[in-house]
Amino acid sequence: MVTITHRNANITLDEQVYDPAEDSYLLADVAIDNAKEGMKVLEVGAGTGFVSAVLQENVDVELIATEISPIAAACARSSGVEVIRADMFNCFKPGTMFDLILFNPPYLPTSEDEKVPGWLNYAFDGGPDGRDAVNRFIEEVPEYLTGNGVVLILISSLTGIGQVKERMETCGFEVETCNSDSCFFEELTVLKGIFGPSGI
Ligand SMILES: C[S@@+](CC[C@H](N)C(=O)[O-])C[C@H]1O[C@@H](n2cnc3c(N)ncnc32)[C@H](O)[C@@H]1O
Repeated sequence: MVTITHRNANITLDEQVYDPAEDSYLLADVAIDNAKEGMKVLEVGAGTGFVSAVLQENVDVELIATEISPIAAACARSSGVEVIRADMFNCFKPGTMFDLILFNPPYLPTSEDEKVPGWLNYAFDGGPDGRDAVNRFIEEVPEYLTGNGVVLILISSLTGIGQVKERMETCGFEVETCNSDSCFFEELTVLKGIFGPSGI
């Protein structure tokens, strides 16, 4: 069993689960900067639990995560993250609200012949333009946000940062770019969306 440590959190890896990469590190750091003590936080798509484990180790938040892959859900639990196996938000009753919701989605444009076998495909497959999961998340998430609730979404230049920003604004978010990181074939960015008085 391989374990890594980041900002005092110990995270167990599994070869059938998305390995924490530049995107995971970027989102975890931005989440720490935006979280405040006592906040109710949801991470959609926990993977190994890296982002959630790092956040809850560094800020005293009340955190829960969802994850579609049973293998990833078990992996994240072994790193001390409370995970519900679910498709995005479908485990929550109406009226369940969070102050902060995080998502490092499958964001790569993916054709039929680029799909990978098994549950791991959910970590990468963003559909033909990379925005299938992102768009669905943006449309569904407002129902689970408190007034002035915040979302942090990790996006790649390959996904179309402008298009994602536009979709968030259409759905009532005030959007700002938090942090970016250039990798060798893409630029990674965290978009922060505030859903509140100036939103719908
Ligand atoms: C890019 S990986 C990120 C994993 C982890 N959050 C990180 O940053 O290292 C995306 C994760 O979202 C999960 N996922 C994809 N679609 C999902 C859905 N509809 N509901 C819940 N989880 C989903 C995948 O199984 C995968 O673990």
